[in-house]
Amino acid sequence: MNSSVFPFLSNFVFLLLLFIQIPSSLSNDDLFTACSKKFECGGISAGFPFLGADRPPACGIHELELRCNEKNITTMKINQVAYRVLKINREDEILRIAREDYWVGLCPPQYMNTFNPQIFEPVDGYKFYTFTYGCTDASTTIFGPKAFTCKEGENGPGELCNGSVTVPVPIKDSPPVWNTVALEEQLKNGFEVRWKVDSEACRECNRSSGVCGFNKVTSQTTCYYPGMHSPPEIISS
Ligand SMILES: *[C@@H]1O[C@H](CO)[C@@H](O)[C@H](O)[C@H]1NC(C)=O
Ligand SMILES: *[C@@H]1O[C@H](CO)[C@@H](O)[C@H](O)[C@H]1NC(C)=O
Ligand SMILES: *[C@@H]1O[C@H](CO)[C@@H](O)[C@H](O)[C@H]1NC(C)=O
Repeated sequence: MNSSVFPFLSNFVFLLLLFIQIPSSLSNDDLFTACSKKFECGGISAGFPFLGADRPPACGIHELELRCNEKNITTMKINQVAYRVLKINREDEILRIAREDYWVGLCPPQYMNTFNPQIFEPVDGYKFYTFTYGCTDASTTIFGPKAFTCKEGENGPGELCNGSVTVPVPIKDSPPVWNTVALEEQLKNGFEVRWKVDSEACRECNRSSGVCGFNKVTSQTTCYYPGMHSPPEIISS
């Protein structure tokens, strides 16, 4: 007799726990509304997994936070390096970005240059070129036949060279033309990276009329629904 009561009780407790775990200040309903909003800036429009403007942290991934500057240019930081976001291709999950510092010339103030491999992966069709700065051998200051020297003080950390930047260049355009103007133009065109986020979970969420978000605690895509009688979240381990 009791055996039928216990499963019910444990389910009840489980449900209670589910509700208690819902992130503090915003209710599920608020999150549904907030995460339904898109980031809009210039010609760029972005939903999940991006954050920024009206999209709070629970709507996406911390590393994919967008900003809109006063000129309606979308930017984002990847490991502290500022990038301009030129295009967001939702369907293929590809981002076209260009280093913001190369917009002002070939001497970037920062040489850090690592992509988070958990978030981004390279897209086929690019070849990587490395620009080195502050090398003891002046001829290798920039990779290529033309030497290029940065102003004094514009050096990053390093041993043989003070710093280096690896930039993907489309194979069709490589090797790049080794003159400053052409190279700067090339870099402004940017390059593509693919973001690696569980998009199947998000499509599933969309099919069930929810809106996608991200649960920091479980590091998984989650789904927010409007109203109180939302379908329970599927928790898998
Ligand atoms: C930026 O976009 C907003 C909204 O579309 C527009 O009202 C504003 O004039 C734009 N600003 C510039 C500098 O283009
Ligand atoms: C590298 O940077 C250090 C410190 O800024 C500087 O003293 C040195 O001259 C630089 N080396 C080269 C080869 O530019
Ligand atoms: C979800 O699906 C609807 C209908 O197909 C579509 O209009 C909407 O843009 C989708 N939303 C997201 C966040 O993908």
